[in-house]
Formats: sequence, C-alpha cells, structure tokens
Amino acid sequence: MSKTKLYEGKAKIVYTTDDDNQMLIHFKDEATAFDGVKKGKIKGKGIVNNKMSCHLFQYLERYNVPTHFIEQASDNEMLVKKVEIIKIEVAMRNIAAGHLCKRYGIEEGTDLQTPILEFYLKDDSLHNPLINEYHAYALELATREEVRYFSQQAIKINAVLRSYFHRRDILLVDFKLEFGRLADEIILADEISPDTCRLWDAKTRKKMDKDRFRHDLGEVEETYKEILERTLA
Ligand code: TMP
Ligand code: ASP
Repeated sequence: MSKTKLYEGKAKIVYTTDDDNQMLIHFKDEATAFDGVKKGKIKGKGIVNNKMSCHLFQYLERYNVPTHFIEQASDNEMLVKKVEIIKIEVAMRNIAAGHLCKRYGIEEGTDLQTPILEFYLKDDSLHNPLINEYHAYALELATREEVRYFSQQAIKINAVLRSYFHRRDILLVDFKLEFGRLADEIILADEISPDTCRLWDAKTRKKMDKDRFRHDLGEVEETYKEILERTLA
C-alpha cells in the first residue's frame, strides 16, 4: 500500500492510502501538554493509544455508535474512514478534574451530580477556548441538527464507557471526543486513549492517564501499559 503524509499533529500522523475514502493514522510516542508548552516522549504510547482506541471503537460499534474505525493496521496504526472533522472538541465529565476545577473552583475528585457536556473550539492557535452551542451555530462550526446528534452520542458513549470501565475497577473521570462528517452521517473519529481520557483506579484513585505526564507523577510508561491491559481484559 502506498502512503503519503497528509498531516502531522502533536501525537498522530495521518496518511492517505490507495483508497480515497480511507486514511491511515499513525500514533506517535510524542506527548505534549498545556497547548504544546510541555513536550516529551512516552515510550510505547503510540501502541497503547492505537490498541485502546481500536478496542473501544469496536466496542462502541456494538452499541450502534458509528465510528471511523475500519481495522487495526499494525501495533501503532489504524485504518479509518476519511471524514471531515468538525471543529468542535466535545468533552464529558463525571468527576471534577483538570480545567473544571481551575475554572469553577471545585475540588478535584468531587462527584458531579450529573455529567457535564462541554464544547471547545478545535483551534490550537486560540488555545481551544470553551464555547457553547450558540457559538457553534453563529461561527458555522456545526448545524443545530449536528450539535443535537453528537451531543446525544457523547452522552450515550459516556454511559457505555463508564460502565465498561467500572466493571474493570476504573473510574472514567472525563474524556474528549471528536466527530466527523461522512456523506450525510456524523461519526465518531480521532481516538479514545489515556491521552484523551482521565482514568483513575476505583479503589486507590491512582491516575492512570496523561495527567501522569502533565504533572510529572512518574511511572508514565508503565501506567500506560497497565491501563491498556486492564482495558482489554
Ligand atoms: P481538561 O480538564 O484539561 O479540559 O480536559 C478534559 C478532558 O479532555 C480530559 O480527559 C483530557 C482531554 N483533553 C484532550 O483530549 N485534549 C486536550 O487538548 C485537552 C486540554 C484535554
Ligand atoms: N493536548 C494538549 C496539548 O498538546 C493539551 C493537553 O492534553 O493537556 O498541549
């Protein structure tokens, strides 16, 4: 298969393939945090993020959540359907952490009485500002119908993944999703991994995600491998 680099991001490289409708995503070991201010490498992260994403996309498909996943192409590559990415990052939160604590003065680890759905503008140069649905319509990021649809999907994905991780003694604290347009469909795209989710051990509340890298908590590579094993179990 011939492949040409289409785009290189902070954690992934996207290649075209022989098929115009498909792309190959290569998951890198490079890690960034705080808008690329902190840079580093997490050995084995590309494999972990690819395998976890492939597994969770296939799991979600069983719950009628359409995704861009086609097949795991190698340890650190995923073959996907080519979509037009919607410029909105959709976040769901179950337990207070990260920016929620900072922005609203909530103590980390506080159980939220109801999950919080948030939208961020997908634009690194603007530092992904928090937006609401009216920004989405006014800035023509998505239509009302699209926002309604991917919001419902995000709520469903949260319910499905939360109980999936709960059965493995892991708390799904929060996560970020990206959706894409494919013909007249909206499908789940990007990745679902320790880079894009906060995952805590349910008993010890040990952080098992990118916060270990963001805040220099140590055992980063080991914990990425451990969370993959527990996710696949
Ligand atoms: P936040 O608390 O930093 O806003 O993060 C919320 C969730 O979104 C968390 O699970 C990490 C994920 N996330 C990304 O996937 N990409 C990002 O650029 C940021 C800031 C957060
Ligand atoms: N992904 C963002 C960055 O690369 C922020 C983060 O994950 O903390 O800077």
